[in-house]
Amino acid sequence: MRIGVLGTGNMADALATHWVRAGHEVTVAGRDARRAQRLAARLGGGVRAAGLRAAAEWGDVVLCALPFGAGEDVVRGLGAALEGTVLVDCSNPVGPGFRLLTDQGPSAAQRLAAAAPGARVVKAFNLCHEDVWRMRPPVFGGRPLAVPVCGDDEEALVRVRELVRDVGCEPVAGGALERAGLLEATAALFISLWVGEGADAQAIAPPLAYAAGPPRQTTGSGTGAVG
Ligand SMILES: NC(=O)c1ccc[n+]([C@@H]2O[C@H](COP(=O)([O-])OP(=O)(O)OC[C@H]3O[C@@H](n4cnc5c(N)ncnc54)[C@H](OP(=O)(O)O)[C@@H]3O)[C@@H](O)[C@H]2O)c1
Repeated sequence: MRIGVLGTGNMADALATHWVRAGHEVTVAGRDARRAQRLAARLGGGVRAAGLRAAAEWGDVVLCALPFGAGEDVVRGLGAALEGTVLVDCSNPVGPGFRLLTDQGPSAAQRLAAAAPGARVVKAFNLCHEDVWRMRPPVFGGRPLAVPVCGDDEEALVRVRELVRDVGCEPVAGGALERAGLLEATAALFISLWVGEGADAQAIAPPLAYAAGPPRQTTGSGTGAVG
């Protein structure tokens, strides 16, 4: 795939590192050309640095690795450059006090989609810290990290699922883009648990087999479940 990366910060670096290693063509772009050049040089693998518009026009997939709000402004300014592009939104609209900045309004992903009406927006990669995305691979207790992915366009979802696997993770269907706000709210909750409470967010959900209570025991005779 040809992947354009908008932003030269932590998430751009962490995710692009995996995608370069997986053999994708990557162009990184930022408002500061020297930072983009430095990141491209660090990533190696033929990665190029370009301006934001050039990277957006070039990529089949474009990662928006910009802060909430800035991403929307930048993408709006790119206009037709993102027509038909798979636009990946990893942003977390989380402010002071772990508050969800989108409140009752559209999610960050929906705002990005409104700012780039021709793009096919997919929400992914927002639930973990940059250093988790830098892991090679992010595997915990022998299980690859599961990454929820939300979007409306099946072909776009297929591509982003591949990019999730290229990071060493397992994609999980998160539903349509209208559900992206749930991922953003989950990030706000997780960050508050991790940072605010020092609590293990992973411990708040039971394993799948216990999702509706303890698993039922089946009898040896195969006559069905018992309570
Ligand atoms: N860091 C994490 O652990 C993490 C995890 C999950 C999701 N996220 C989300 O990922 C996104 C990127 O986070 P990050 O940690 O990579 O941030 P970062 O390291 O601060 O990098 C942000 C990038 O955005 C650029 N930028 C900032 N304001 C801009 C503007 N108005 N116009 C154009 N470019 C602008 C910065 O450019 P300059 O270098 O020129 O300032 C930089 O290249 C955020 O939405 C964040 O919520 C982050």
